[in-house]
Amino acid sequence: MNTLHRLDGHLHLEGVALETLAERFGTPLYVYSRQALQDAYQAYDQAFAATPHLICYAVKANSSLAILNLFARLGAGFDIVSGGELARVLAAGGDPGKVVFSGVGKTVAEMRAALNAGILCFNVESVSELHRLNRVAGEAGKVAPVSFRVNPDVDPMTHPYISTGLKENKFGVPIAEAPALYRLAARLPNLKITGIDCHIGSQLTDLSPLADAADRVLTLVDTLASEGITLHHVDLGGGVGIRYHDEVAPDLAAYGRALAARFRARSEKLLLEPGRSLVGNAGVLLTRVEYLKPGEDKSFAIVDAAMNDLMRPALYEAYHEIVAVFQREEPAQRYDIVGPICETGDFLGFARDLAIEEGDLLALLSAGAYGMSMASNYNSRPRAAEILIDKNEIHLIRERETQEGMMAGERLID
Ligand code: LLP
Repeated sequence: MNTLHRLDGHLHLEGVALETLAERFGTPLYVYSRQALQDAYQAYDQAFAATPHLICYAVKANSSLAILNLFARLGAGFDIVSGGELARVLAAGGDPGKVVFSGVGKTVAEMRAALNAGILCFNVESVSELHRLNRVAGEAGKVAPVSFRVNPDVDPMTHPYISTGLKENKFGVPIAEAPALYRLAARLPNLKITGIDCHIGSQLTDLSPLADAADRVLTLVDTLASEGITLHHVDLGGGVGIRYHDEVAPDLAAYGRALAARFRARSEKLLLEPGRSLVGNAGVLLTRVEYLKPGEDKSFAIVDAAMNDLMRPALYEAYHEIVAVFQREEPAQRYDIVGPICETGDFLGFARDLAIEEGDLLALLSAGAYGMSMASNYNSRPRAAEILIDKNEIHLIRERETQEGMMAGERLID
């Protein structure tokens, strides 16, 4: 089902006209479709049905409690990278026994919280972290479940800021050093080896780097097994891309088949950490045109959303499709769509052909992933509200931030 569709020229998400939402809740406004979130999750579950698996949703892509709760109810596990994300997963009813904890900088306090919660495993990214985890677990009288994040040195062929599996990246331990680290982990008293993991990058549109990484990791698993180190799971990370513009998203079913062939004769469970591909195309960012500013060289449409609401264009020159919520009959004109923030980098899209007037609504598509979760208060702008649509039902899942709320933790001095 196409959850985003037009009825008599008016853009709807599921059964709700986006104009209604803008009038009721104001703009900028994030709007998500429950159906699209569920469909994306189920597409994964089905694609990997032939292999015993656990889908650990990467919380960083969109950490809103209602969305975490939906995935928890569908049976998902979670990939977290901070104590804050752990707290969110627990508050949303997620099962700590299905949580993997990634990230290069886990603090002592974060390790303690995760040990107390009883997570599935720590994805350890360095030898120092291993020693710290062993010590913290010992002090807590616990045994920490450990998986090493290995860096398979595969080029994911994506944007350099979001590739993570190359030698020069800060992530993971070099695959060649992994056997020695597993031997060390096996000797440390407060650790229990459970798995292995890798994550090579994000927004991959080609499956072959993912398959290459899987092969390198599985070769290592076999080497470890020959030394008597057996693993319970193999986590191949996230990274599956989505269609923003003219990309072709990888075929999940083909990825599922490729992994099924590799896992058929194996006993380890497959873990995946998808983020973007579960939420990216389930959400839009609604914004209103404040001013049209015609110019000699180019014309600007100044809207009420900005880089603080959706940072991806400013940060990665990422492309988000921008459409008018109501389709006018007039011929389109070319605009740069920019926000009100005092930065030249505050743009949402360049050279877009739109038939719009001041006061019209625009929708930025594919905004469900790394949109709200990367939003900031820059220029003292309150973060947007979030709405989850369920057929004809409208749920306000996060209120718009208030000026008072933004200043609440601040103090003046004498
Ligand atoms: N696992 C780990 C360890 C990760 O670091 C990430 C994303 C994921 C899973 C999920 O990857 P996904 O399935 O979403 O590709 N802010 C950037 C994306 C940064 C991704 C960081 N790590 C963007 O807006 O494109």
